[in-house]
Amino acid sequence: MQLMPEQASSFAAELDSLIFLLVGLTVLFTTLVAACLLFFAVKYRRGSKADRSRAVDHHTGLEIAWSVPPLILGLAVFMWNASLFSRMRTVPDNALEIFVIGKQWMWHVQHPNGVRENNELHVPLGRPVKLTMISQDVIHNFRIPAFRTQRDVIPGTYTEQWFQPTRLGRYRFFCSQFCGTDHSKMTGWVTVMEPVEYQRWLAAGGSAKKPVLTLEEAGKELYEKLQCGNCHEAVSTVRGPSLVAIFGKKRTLDSGQTVVADQAYLRESLVDPYRHIVKGYEQTMPSYKEQLSEEQILQLVAYMKTLGTAGDPGAPMPPSPSNEAGRPTASAPAGGVSPTQ
Ligand code: HEC
Repeated sequence: MQLMPEQASSFAAELDSLIFLLVGLTVLFTTLVAACLLFFAVKYRRGSKADRSRAVDHHTGLEIAWSVPPLILGLAVFMWNASLFSRMRTVPDNALEIFVIGKQWMWHVQHPNGVRENNELHVPLGRPVKLTMISQDVIHNFRIPAFRTQRDVIPGTYTEQWFQPTRLGRYRFFCSQFCGTDHSKMTGWVTVMEPVEYQRWLAAGGSAKKPVLTLEEAGKELYEKLQCGNCHEAVSTVRGPSLVAIFGKKRTLDSGQTVVADQAYLRESLVDPYRHIVKGYEQTMPSYKEQLSEEQILQLVAYMKTLGTAGDPGAPMPPSPSNEAGRPTASAPAGGVSPTQ
């Protein structure tokens, strides 16, 4: 019988050792206390002939002996735990970023090159992988037992988790936050592949084997369809500030505060534009909260990150009125490009 799930990530063995240590210490001390309790209960039971003449009510040596070693043990466990926790929460810079969206009741995965999957997650062996996650509705939790990692997936905020797979194979993942009727069906499989194979799989368009737009390209399409460029031109105009090289830039707000335009800021600009108004502007940007799915927001954010940089998939500013044949037109409902398959 298998006691624990397989150990398939760089955290697994260490986390298991920590758990076994905690269990071991708990058993050890519980046994010690219980044994003393039993021994004294029997020895000093009513009617026993035990010597009760020299009752001790204080013993400094004994008190130090039962306080100091457990304190040191407790601190040592705490330090180990804290160190592991902080390593699990510090994403390495070279991690491969994959996006995960939770919704009642499925997991939607989006690779940076645009490959999408549902209830499946393909990752390369031996490379740190960072999941940037968000929920479309209620709180979920993305948990991969074989990797010993999990993190809440929350509506309105991006959360992250990372891991480094150490073993090829298929492993289950689960939603581990009760999220409604079909919560128990909100599961899927991680497939750990050889890096070359993973690259080949990605290039072939994933399991669906469909040619796909990259996140940025899909974002560019949306950007044009929603005509963001009507207000956001290459240089700031009265209609809107320029978005060129916006990612990571310091923004001055009308409150005088400055904030850095990170991923969360760009997302908020779309769904809650009046939360922070750029200095010199008014509340004229429409909120896209009702119109855009989280996938589409990810695409737009990915596109905005590249605007005016070398990675820009087009020359989008000022907007080209290009609606090539077959592409959705501005009159199509926003849901028309919903990436949900
Ligand atoms: C009707 C004009 C208008 C349209 C259309 C519009 N915006 Fe805006 N946008 C604004 C204005 C005005 C601001 C500055 C005020 C504010 O921060 O809300 C702004 C701010 C922003 C910001 C923050 C910019 C900064 O300098 O910090 C982002 C990001 C943004 N818009 C993205 C978009 C995207 C993406 C679209 C298309 C989906 C879009 N906007 C459509 C007018 C518009």
